[in-house]
Amino acid sequence: MIIPIKPWLELAESANGVKGSSFERGMVASGVYLTADAEQEEMIRDSSALFGSNQEPGKADRMEFYHEPIMAAEILSYLQPIDGKQILDGTLGGGGHTEMFLREGAHVIGCDQDANAIDHATRRLASYGDQFLPVRGNFGQMDVLLASHGVDSVDGILLDLGVSSRQLDDISRGFSFRGEAALDMRMDDRADFSARDLVNEWSEEDLIRIFREYGEERRAVRAAKAIVAARREKVIETTTELVEIVSRVIPKVGPKNPATRVFQAIRIAVNRELEVLEDALEKSLQVLSPGGVLAVISFHSLEDRMVKQFMHRRSNPFIDRPEWPEPRENPDYALSLPSRRAISPGEEEVAANPRARSAKLRVAVKV
Ligand SMILES: C[S@@+](CC[C@H](N)C(=O)[O-])C[C@H]1O[C@@H](n2cnc3c(N)ncnc32)[C@H](O)[C@@H]1O
Repeated sequence: MIIPIKPWLELAESANGVKGSSFERGMVASGVYLTADAEQEEMIRDSSALFGSNQEPGKADRMEFYHEPIMAAEILSYLQPIDGKQILDGTLGGGGHTEMFLREGAHVIGCDQDANAIDHATRRLASYGDQFLPVRGNFGQMDVLLASHGVDSVDGILLDLGVSSRQLDDISRGFSFRGEAALDMRMDDRADFSARDLVNEWSEEDLIRIFREYGEERRAVRAAKAIVAARREKVIETTTELVEIVSRVIPKVGPKNPATRVFQAIRIAVNRELEVLEDALEKSLQVLSPGGVLAVISFHSLEDRMVKQFMHRRSNPFIDRPEWPEPRENPDYALSLPSRRAISPGEEEVAANPRARSAKLRVAVKV
């Protein structure tokens, strides 16, 4: 289905926008903002329901069809990916958003650090020929990646952050606690630092910090101490070993695996997801052409806060301080914001796609 594009201003003001979304209502939904671990739980539940809970490695190839692009209508209306525009999809994944852009006529540079995602999307989108350029790399280096393909600037950038359902469902990647695999969790298998290195080498203090900050795990100290004690006996090699160690000190409450938040935190740290996002936001200003649009979908409160602060800091033409006689020009001014608030998916989308529940979209236009 091709979703008709409307200019974002028109759609934001329209009473016939996306049903139930905060985009339509012009406000953030007051519903629960699930943390990232809850997102992971939802995705796992979703795919387990469809495919059974014990996926063999390699089966992920068949699974892309349920990875609906998040907030499709909102993304289309802000990015306006019409013929003649060039869009950077920094998180190609299964190619869902990219295919939407291609259908509308835009040229798309689809970047992903995961070789499987690039292979899959290249096959899926082959019929678009020169309109689609797959590029393996990290969106934190988008300036270098684009330059290496002779691209100076783009009209839009999309970052749909985090891990894909394909990555979670491929047990061999070590992202999931649902099956036995080597502790890996690298989105980019060329990286030389894996979950195994982190779990066996990081100090207790660093483990506590990431479990607290990235996993929002209340029992961070207990989990870290248990890991440090266990690794004195033997190197922790597999996902099931880690689950077993963490489960000894974090009781199971409800259907959630006790190691969910610990896994989440390790994944974010292994892939340096927050540091990379910070770099990417800065670099987006370099590669966006004037009038170009940056859209970021986040699933974790730390990510959303980073995007919000970045966009707000650069969207005020003037800054003021009590000690100044008058406001001064903001040297960081670079963006205008269609909405200062995050846009949440509509009720229908959340009902149809559990992964959407914790999504927050923020959009900025380069001035
Ligand atoms: C949520 S999925 C994107 C799904 C995609 N929008 C779709 O519609 O199919 C996120 C993807 O971004 C990739 N990714 C995450 N961080 C990245 C980074 N720093 N650089 C490049 N790719 C990244 C992951 O490997 C994953 O394939």
